[in-house]
Amino acid sequence: MLDFHSHILPGLDDGAPDMETALAMARIAVEDGITTMVATPHFIEGSMENNRDLILGKVTEFQRVLYEVNILLKVLPGCEVFLSPDTPARLQKGELMTVNNKGKHLLVELPLQCVPSYAEQVLFDLKVMGVTPVIAHPERNVELAGKPELFLNLVNRGCLMQINGGSINGLYGKKVQKAARILIINGLIHFIGSDGHSCNRRTTRIRKALDTIEKFRAGQKNTVMGYSNKVINGEDLIPITPISIDGPMINIWQKCKEKIWSFL
Ligand SMILES: [Fe+2]
Repeated sequence: MLDFHSHILPGLDDGAPDMETALAMARIAVEDGITTMVATPHFIEGSMENNRDLILGKVTEFQRVLYEVNILLKVLPGCEVFLSPDTPARLQKGELMTVNNKGKHLLVELPLQCVPSYAEQVLFDLKVMGVTPVIAHPERNVELAGKPELFLNLVNRGCLMQINGGSINGLYGKKVQKAARILIINGLIHFIGSDGHSCNRRTTRIRKALDTIEKFRAGQKNTVMGYSNKVINGEDLIPITPISIDGPMINIWQKCKEKIWSFL
């Protein structure tokens, strides 16, 4: 099982503050069944500028400590980049760590309240550069959650989606949980991450949430873990065809509501 999004690297951002906490988070992950974890410290201009070289060094060091204390967890380099107009230029300069340093996929974060006016152009520019944006926890964005057809719009424009396990389980409240389930039901989720920051509330577990996704997607050929394994190997991912943008998403949403509420 692969965790696509975590803040486990010690002392880099608002995640694990020290090695002791990072190791405790690793133990929780292994106990949950996670064997591979992409470490995705924040890159936020002006506050948390964790660049590619720094992350590579920290991952190597952390992996060495994990082996020393006999924790069987493979850690891969990644980054959660707060989307800005400068993101493509920084990527071009080699400052930003792509998923597993393969140069093919970039985990990007939007503000929680809105989709900025520059987002569409920046996401397009990344695609033109040959890098596929993976939107981190879109279900937590208030604007997207209020207009689920926008999720579809992003996927139709070539973005991939990563959901937080905690969103599915209700960690961030009912509205986020509802948005998470709309994404899952409509086949708009490609990856799952713990977004683990600590050993408590936002921790490094995804098993329960992954079971929920699999229950919804039973019988489908493409699995979340299948997508994850392809992307960490730098393979191009052709996701299942999303529902047409011309389709009546709002009707789909209405239909989903019944399913969602009966499921909760
Ligand atoms: Fe995160």
